[in-house]
Amino acid sequence: MSLQQRKILLGVTGGIAAYKSAELTRLLKRAGADVRVVMTAAAEAFITPMTLQALSGHAVRGALFDPAHEAAMGHIELARWADLVVIAPASANTLARLAQGLADDLLSTLCLATTAPILAAPAMNRQMWTHPATQRNIELLTERGVRLVGPDSGEQACGEAGPGRMAEPAEITAAATALFASGALAGRRLLITLGPTREPIDPVRFLSNRSSGKMGMALARAAIDAGADVTIIAGPTAQPTPADVKRIDVETTAQMHNATMAEAAGQDIFIATAAVSDYRPATPAGQKIKKTAETLTLTLERNPDILGDVSAAFPALFCVGFAAETENLAEHARDKLERKRLDLIAANPVGDGLGFDRDDNSLEVFWPGGHRSLPVTTKTRLAQQLIELIAERYQESLEKLPLP
Ligand code: CTP
Repeated sequence: MSLQQRKILLGVTGGIAAYKSAELTRLLKRAGADVRVVMTAAAEAFITPMTLQALSGHAVRGALFDPAHEAAMGHIELARWADLVVIAPASANTLARLAQGLADDLLSTLCLATTAPILAAPAMNRQMWTHPATQRNIELLTERGVRLVGPDSGEQACGEAGPGRMAEPAEITAAATALFASGALAGRRLLITLGPTREPIDPVRFLSNRSSGKMGMALARAAIDAGADVTIIAGPTAQPTPADVKRIDVETTAQMHNATMAEAAGQDIFIATAAVSDYRPATPAGQKIKKTAETLTLTLERNPDILGDVSAAFPALFCVGFAAETENLAEHARDKLERKRLDLIAANPVGDGLGFDRDDNSLEVFWPGGHRSLPVTTKTRLAQQLIELIAERYQESLEKLPLP
């Protein structure tokens, strides 16, 4: 497990433990994360933005409406960018403001605007920590899903001893890493098709589409984090392969079909995210086509339906399809669910700048007798939510199987 390619927003608030945020930034970066720091005004009394800028490699943000920063990455964009928000140190004041849902500075606004999980490392004097007001705020925040790391007990900067010391940076880094690992698919084997396919017209030209492979790779990553053993069958894509994933590269639909059928045996779950070309040139030219004629007609023939064939050949496999639709999304998705005999289908609106080759997306997920909306967020976060839902539905399908 690492934080490779994770986007972490580090909130630093006012407290003596802020000096440890420098070490925390370094450790998060070393684990592979992309770190952006937001400081409250009080934090700047304890550590300079320059230190955290040098360590994170990005300008540190402070004010809510800073025209230069807002032009580069607006605060809502920053909230959506994050895969995880870490607040370390989290002062009693910041925790109280988050519990109340205030949005009177950049950090509190980001915490309200993000869908990413929030991990807080409280740090304060022991009396402040044990005060019923703080304890009530902590209760409220944890009820709402905020995770805590620490505080530790021990000697405090104020000379007292007791609970309230910020957890060590290594402990916070480990807690951040563990947050991405759910274990919901531990021991399960998962096969994913992703990216576009290319259908040759002649040796130098092909028919293809706008798929980037981002959603498929994000799902592979989320499945690895959930403990699965993951194989991907990838059409041409520039996306990096997550660590621990077995990758088989293909180009045409026919190759993807062969590879998928060969790999499907012994798998538990199949997710077809590939944007497969439904048709291919019937007779690709052996040599480069010369522009001699005024018009050129290509005759296309049907490609095999990979998902349909896999679900028919492996009835015990839990099959998940994707449906990219420009209209009547629910109707088309439900139709594909039935026609291809799927266990679940994730539909997303495309066209008009939506869907393909973007970093965010939304999904409407359907299964026989059910539906859930996953609102717009980053593909990374969306993939985690979809993998959680797939794990849930998969588990339910096992429980429905007749006892041997
Ligand atoms: N798919 C596949 N092989 C194909 C076509 C599609 O495996 N030849 C998979 C896709 O990966 C996706 C799902 O099937 O998971 C839906 O693809 P789509 O092309 O939208 O559905 P079709 O059944 O082809 O319906 P239509 O073209 O009418 O939209």
